[in-house]
Amino acid sequence: MYVAYLATRSIIRSVPKHGMHGRPGCHHRNLTTLPSHHILPSGDKIPSVALGVWQAGKGEVGAAVQTALKTGYRHIDGAWIYGNEEEVGKAISASGVPRDQLWLTSKLWNNFHAPEDIEPALDETLTRLNTEYLDLYLIHWPIAFKKGSNNVLDKELTANPYPTWQKLEELVDKGKIRNIGISKIKNLTANPLKHKPAVNQVELNYFNPQPELLKWSKENGLLLEAYSPLGSTKQVKEALSVPEVKEIAKKLDITPAQALISWHVQRGTIVLPKSVTPSRVQENFQGLFHIFLTYGMAMECAKLMWRLIVVTLPDDLFDKLEKAATSHPPQRVVNPSKNWGLDFDVFDENWPL
Ligand code: A2P
Repeated sequence: MYVAYLATRSIIRSVPKHGMHGRPGCHHRNLTTLPSHHILPSGDKIPSVALGVWQAGKGEVGAAVQTALKTGYRHIDGAWIYGNEEEVGKAISASGVPRDQLWLTSKLWNNFHAPEDIEPALDETLTRLNTEYLDLYLIHWPIAFKKGSNNVLDKELTANPYPTWQKLEELVDKGKIRNIGISKIKNLTANPLKHKPAVNQVELNYFNPQPELLKWSKENGLLLEAYSPLGSTKQVKEALSVPEVKEIAKKLDITPAQALISWHVQRGTIVLPKSVTPSRVQENFQGLFHIFLTYGMAMECAKLMWRLIVVTLPDDLFDKLEKAATSHPPQRVVNPSKNWGLDFDVFDENWPL
């Protein structure tokens, strides 16, 4: 199976079950920490927190990316279909952040799954982002549409994504993509893969925490990325009002969004919060950092360590939120099946193909 989901646990430093006390200084002996990145099978380090740019509109996404890069984000999660790659690319170029310090993800849209359509689609993304390579390219959905169509299912390529995967492997070997992954599927393992999926990007949030998938993925060395981690535009308000989320925020003197983002990192997933509001873009990144300070670390130390480690929520608070999230009936927030006019649910286990 997949080789290297980086064990979150392996870089957790030791420590008190319920947080730490006193001012530990820069030795951080008493800190329980989580990784600020994960290591993929390729050896590449993917930062744990990204700016997600789905639904970040033209005219606002560039400023959001610039704010994010100034704040310290080094990971942008985008896609061809979001229609904003050019503005994202311009913002990245203007930031002056060296390319090798950035993690750029994009996604192959449903109507480019035919092997001969993949490289031109990728090239368009590369041009728009003004880069020579992507750090990660995902098959956006486990659904292929017929060439040029936006809703006519290509049954053959949907039932068998292997030719699509093989073309992506070729593009890794060509140097245009460093890592390839999937989104919302886990069924490629039946084939002999040259490059295994590096990640699986799925919906993970308070409403749809998918504990079984998370467990399976950890056991099989497949890193999960959490999209719509705050409940997306539709349910973010509700997510931020969950009593357990509010309790964590109050006890740690952080905001509810920061509490949720910490929870995702602590679950061992990559988290992709989207915002186009500058103060929120900052808030979503600085919460993890802020927890250092709450625990009494000197500001200078926290700054020094910031890129290296992320402090966990105290076990009791983490467990309480995990229990609350996993004990109500799961509810998926984002499902485009109806909009695409499919006569089945893309998230059903058994497709009538
Ligand atoms: P906006 O982009 O207007 O700032 P998700 O990451 O789950 O997809 O959620 C995105 C939604 O959550 C967007 O509506 C975004 O609004 C909102 N959002 C992002 N960060 C915060 C925050 N820190 N506080 C409140 N709402 C937030």
